[in-house]
Amino acid sequence: MSSAKNLIFHIRPGGSLKGTLRVPGDKSISHRSIMLGSLAEGTTHISGFLEGDDSLATLRAFRAMGVEISGPVDGNVAIQGVGMHGLKLPTGPLDLGNSGTSMRLLAGLLAGQGLKLTLIGDRSLSSRPMRRVTDPLRSMGAQVETTEQGTAPLTIYPVDHLNGIDYPLPVASAQIKSCLLLAGLYATGETRITEPAPTRDHTERMLSGFGYPVQRSGATAALQGGGKLTACDIDIPADISSAAFFMVGASIAPGSDVLLQHVGINPTRDGVINILRLMGADIEVLNQRDVGGEPVADLRVRSADLHGIRIPEDQVPLAIDEFPALFIAAACARGETLLTGAEELRVKESDRIQVMADGLAAVGVEAMPTPGGIVIQGGRIGGGRINSHGDHRIAMAFAMAALRSEGEILIDDCSNVNTSFPGFVALASGAGLDIEQSEEN
Ligand code: S3P
Repeated sequence: MSSAKNLIFHIRPGGSLKGTLRVPGDKSISHRSIMLGSLAEGTTHISGFLEGDDSLATLRAFRAMGVEISGPVDGNVAIQGVGMHGLKLPTGPLDLGNSGTSMRLLAGLLAGQGLKLTLIGDRSLSSRPMRRVTDPLRSMGAQVETTEQGTAPLTIYPVDHLNGIDYPLPVASAQIKSCLLLAGLYATGETRITEPAPTRDHTERMLSGFGYPVQRSGATAALQGGGKLTACDIDIPADISSAAFFMVGASIAPGSDVLLQHVGINPTRDGVINILRLMGADIEVLNQRDVGGEPVADLRVRSADLHGIRIPEDQVPLAIDEFPALFIAAACARGETLLTGAEELRVKESDRIQVMADGLAAVGVEAMPTPGGIVIQGGRIGGGRINSHGDHRIAMAFAMAALRSEGEILIDDCSNVNTSFPGFVALASGAGLDIEQSEEN
């Protein structure tokens, strides 16, 4: 279990989703707003900040390093930036909880600070691979240690200086790219990162918003070290990864019609819309606009008759966090859905291929995991009890499955839903999901 008490979701079968909903702020952008706001000169005002455990872990880490941060109050945060070299030594290790983004991005941002720091996390985070960031950081001259297994705790030692790096990413990962770009702010010369496939580009966009020049050409992002960040205001859109549960729920539950407001639809994040549309979903993208350098829209989703597909591999990095929800769509679709090229799912907050396959089997869906994907036979979903393994997105995905299940669905170990989606139960039940929660010792 991820915490001492077992938070259980109980969802009665059936129903539909209706109404106008705004899901919480984007997690990736919330993390980055605290990081860059803290290093900037001047006061950064943030609205729409995600008050979830993950982004709060980042906020607390910067407070522990001496940054004055007020809020969050109703998603509003104000940061008195300390400048590129103003962070102070914290009194103890920085505890990043369940948050891989905090740990990997901070490893880069802190590598060149000249401070000795330790980064720790919960059991899940302490089992996730960290050499993917510490190896290239070492090539830049950083001294960052992991355990023998290549996992957290990470210990960062002061070094004289970092060098820029020209690094082709071995996997499509925005966390590695962002880690190295943030280290590159402190490096001598240029840092150039080339990705094998497009990944979320919030770091590059936000650096530009803070006045830091980033060159982007094709698959490469590059910056020169030694510049400075200038405070700005940030309006964080609703998180498409959280909206995804309602997009799937509304698609699979007959009679549904939801309007998801102010959702970030950055083209490096919109795979869930593209994949659901390929499956026959009815999604309208309305009122498209630019909000502080990020594309935003309202999404109207109505129920539709979904069919199985072979998911195009180029969509995988663009929907990397949405597969638990998409697997539920596949379980409700006519025919077979095939996913390949998604090995990265095995090293998320849980092994999302195995944990989803086990959960689908528990509710009577035929699902065959493969090393890099899964084959799901759509059809009927029974009732049953699911172990989410403390993975927020597994818990929310199976909650939505109850809209089409024949019996009640119980989900164990749900407290980490708060890492990305505080208020999920209230919002989902207001929209029509028959969900309650209870606690067990
Ligand atoms: C994130 C990048 C992705 C994603 C994670 C958030 C980010 O991880 O799964 O939830 O904010 O940069 P990877 O870079 O490991 O794919």
